[in-house]
Amino acid sequence: MPGQNTINPDARLRILGNGHYLPEKVLTNQDIEQLCETSHEWIVERTGIERRHVCADGEGNADIATEASKRALAAAGMQADELDMILVATCSQDYNAPSVACWVQQKLGLRPLPVFDINAACSGFIYLLEIAQVYLNTNPQLKILICGSERLSQFIHWDDRSTAVLFGDGCGAAVVTGGAAENSGLFSTHIYADGSKAGILGVCNANPPYHPPELAGHIYMDGQAVFKSAVLAFSSSIDECLEHNGVDKSEIDWFIPHQANIRIINAVGKRLGMADDKIIVTVNECANTSAASIPTALSIAVDDGRIKRGDLVLMAGFGAGLTWGAALLRY
Ligand SMILES: CC(C)(COP(=O)(O)OP(=O)(O)OC[C@H]1O[C@@H](n2cnc3c(N)ncnc32)[C@H](O)[C@@H]1OP(=O)(O)O)[C@@H](O)C(=O)NCCC(=O)NCCS
Repeated sequence: MPGQNTINPDARLRILGNGHYLPEKVLTNQDIEQLCETSHEWIVERTGIERRHVCADGEGNADIATEASKRALAAAGMQADELDMILVATCSQDYNAPSVACWVQQKLGLRPLPVFDINAACSGFIYLLEIAQVYLNTNPQLKILICGSERLSQFIHWDDRSTAVLFGDGCGAAVVTGGAAENSGLFSTHIYADGSKAGILGVCNANPPYHPPELAGHIYMDGQAVFKSAVLAFSSSIDECLEHNGVDKSEIDWFIPHQANIRIINAVGKRLGMADDKIIVTVNECANTSAASIPTALSIAVDDGRIKRGDLVLMAGFGAGLTWGAALLRY
């Protein structure tokens, strides 16, 4: 079935190492109060966000992606020149072309390789797991760098409180290969999109054909429509993923949801019957970093010792498109 990856059991994706990087520059809610009419209390109550990291002037998406990639390579005990492929999920490239992946390749000093970006907005990392698995199905030896990386701050109008409070920059990376042991690695991915909802959330470029000129280079969003669609999409892909694998909710060790809003996370967590301390939450510190949010949360939870080898991890995301998806893996 399209959107449901068939995995070669001898080539099951496994994660060799994770890394993440958040820009040093931090904007607190109090800083945002100086830029638009909002309050720390409103932002925390409606979203759970307290701070966000944003790139400094001259710091690009590819810079933070490179830093996260170096950390993932170090965690995998690998040198960059051992990589066979680089895939980046992003909706906030530094340049429309070349891809962020090409800039990362340059910054890592790598020989010619297949490298490219994909855009599935906040579901990007789930899409990357699926795409990497497709390559591994035919060659399980490949070492693939997958990064969810965003510099959304370039599209934020800081005087627009409807979006200025919500987003941040960052990158989460992983080095993956095939050949996971039985009952381990990636079990399945389930990815979807519904373009009929393209108008409720997105990022305009310099001359958007379907939006007024004042939205050029700006994020557009119908917050309530996104909220409702997100809860439905999240829930349906999670149900499908668990059912496909014959896994009961109670067997999940860790749930890593896309980090858009604590109220969405709590609503879905409650539906899953997950205890709060089994849900990885970074939205308070990072805000919504789109494709970076799931791999960053994964990397943070591996670094701080919560997620260990052998743990069953459910990931699910949703975002502009609308896109959504879920993945289940034993770390
Ligand atoms: C954006 C979002 C936080 C807004 O919360 P909400 O509860 O829907 O709030 P509303 O839009 O109904 O606005 C409530 C009130 O707060 C005000 N308000 C809106 N944004 C505000 C802000 N940043 N600061 C202060 N007040 C704000 C509104 O003007 C409105 O005031 P009113 O009652 O006087 O008319 C919420 O809709 C949301 O999280 N949606 C999903 C967004 C998302 O996840 N996007 C990314 C997906 S990948």
